[in-house]
Amino acid sequence: MILLDGKVAAEAVKEKLKAQVAELTAKGHRTPKLAAILVGNNGASETYVASKVKNCAETGFESLLIRLDENVPESTLLQTIEQLNNDESVDGILVQLPLPKHISEQKVIATIHPEKDVDGFHPINAGKLVQGLPTFIPATPYGILLLLEHYHVQTKGKHAVIVGRSNIVGRPMSILLSSNIPMGNCTVTIAHSHTQNLTDICLQADILVAALGKPEFVTANMVKQGAIVIDVGITRVEDATAKKGFRIKGDVAFNEVAPKTAAITPVPGGVGLMTIAGLLSNTLQAYLNNKK
Ligand code: GUN
Repeated sequence: MILLDGKVAAEAVKEKLKAQVAELTAKGHRTPKLAAILVGNNGASETYVASKVKNCAETGFESLLIRLDENVPESTLLQTIEQLNNDESVDGILVQLPLPKHISEQKVIATIHPEKDVDGFHPINAGKLVQGLPTFIPATPYGILLLLEHYHVQTKGKHAVIVGRSNIVGRPMSILLSSNIPMGNCTVTIAHSHTQNLTDICLQADILVAALGKPEFVTANMVKQGAIVIDVGITRVEDATAKKGFRIKGDVAFNEVAPKTAAITPVPGGVGLMTIAGLLSNTLQAYLNNKK
């Protein structure tokens, strides 16, 4: 069994990005810049955004973190996005999700200028993805492709089963794995909460992507011998014995599943780290598009 180590693969991607940024700035160009907006104090979102900011610094990117109160009016958030849209020094904008209930995620996403939408969530960019046109690939699916590439996983002709149909992971992942791209050309099945005979379908997977957000949902009886398993789950589960009072659990029961697989991602230390590599790759792309 090969451990698909997100730390190793993300470092390799970040080293490449860092070298590209260093070369650009040595030639007198400005530094790529990512603006992140965090609304409220959701613990997990705080952690993700802090990690994005830290990784920007490590890779030579500038970042700007804008914090807004949990009760901020939707209009204020939309105005903040417009200001960033009009700020030429900002290449990429992300609004950390989920947002408080009084704010429409759809409106927020549609307000980000598509050329700065480094999450790839804007309907224009999502549409381009469906049509196989150049666009920003959502960071988590992008990170998974980078991870598969790093470990030279052969995807062509394989049956990929994706459990979960979110706009952030499952849906774009299904499009990418079925596309005619280097880490694509799979036959894809997308499963969700209404899928019947889920175990039988998962057992057919050469590549199984678990992206449903239910800790340890995928058990050994659902996994074919020799499958490649990608665990996208990151759920905080209360645990009084843990330092922070919780543990991070994936969607896959790693200990029982891993021995059956050809390769598997750990949680933590797998896909989560690759998401940031995907985001930084998109930010550099936005910068390069913007620079011309
Ligand atoms: N929340 C969970 N995943 C993501 C992501 O990839 N981008 C943003 N903006 N919010 C998220």
